[in-house]
Amino acid sequence: MRRILVAGNWKLNGSKASIQKLVTGIVAGAENLTDVSIAVCAPYVYLPFTAELLTKSVVGLGAQDVSEQDSGAYTGEVSASMLLETGCKYVIVGHSERRALFGEKDMDTARKFAAARKQGLIPILCLGESLAEREAGMTEVVVARQLDAVLELEGVQALNDAVIAYEPVWAIGTGKTATPEQAQAVHAFIRQRLAALDAGVAAKVQILYGGSVKGSNAAELFAMQDIDGGLIGGASLDAQEFLTICQAGQ
Ligand code: G3P
Repeated sequence: MRRILVAGNWKLNGSKASIQKLVTGIVAGAENLTDVSIAVCAPYVYLPFTAELLTKSVVGLGAQDVSEQDSGAYTGEVSASMLLETGCKYVIVGHSERRALFGEKDMDTARKFAAARKQGLIPILCLGESLAEREAGMTEVVVARQLDAVLELEGVQALNDAVIAYEPVWAIGTGKTATPEQAQAVHAFIRQRLAALDAGVAAKVQILYGGSVKGSNAAELFAMQDIDGGLIGGASLDAQEFLTICQAGQ
């Protein structure tokens, strides 16, 4: 019986006041959602505060990025061991905004993935193509290249302790959600690529969809065979909308 994971990615949003209101609403609503796993990924500076608000809640905490280094002269970086100490269970790695806006390469993502796993965090590995790449028929080539960087560094067994998120860049923040069929096709491609290496890992790994998921479209996406939940941006900043998406995963 597969279990759905719904993780909110707050991105560069929030304040103590808004997070207090948001998390209070999510925690209250999550109490009745026992068949879906829920997490929220806060900005670094609010991780301890959010962890405090999540005490005794079933909602897990995640970060949005991590250093590939664990300690040393790396000004501004935050290590996996530091994230673990703040109460993080998950960490997003390779988000398209890190790749496109901050120059993160596939190997950088692979090293972050490894650093997270080394400390016992669950990496949420983001994969996805741009509109130009999709229109050029390159979706599978791009997604395979991004996935293979992790497989080459860590091996397929590493996916036993990880989550994958397929996030077509053209659907992120645009309101242009991939159709359930479009998303399912790429999720199936990812799962088949893993199955060619290890059938058990392929069957077990959760593959989330991200890109304009809303309360109104979550159920049809999560109903697809290889979609095991969602990585939610804008809609995760509203407690009721986020809970509606979580409810769709029940
Ligand atoms: O990481 C999730 C995010 O990229 C999706 O954003 O606003 O399209 O749900 P959004």
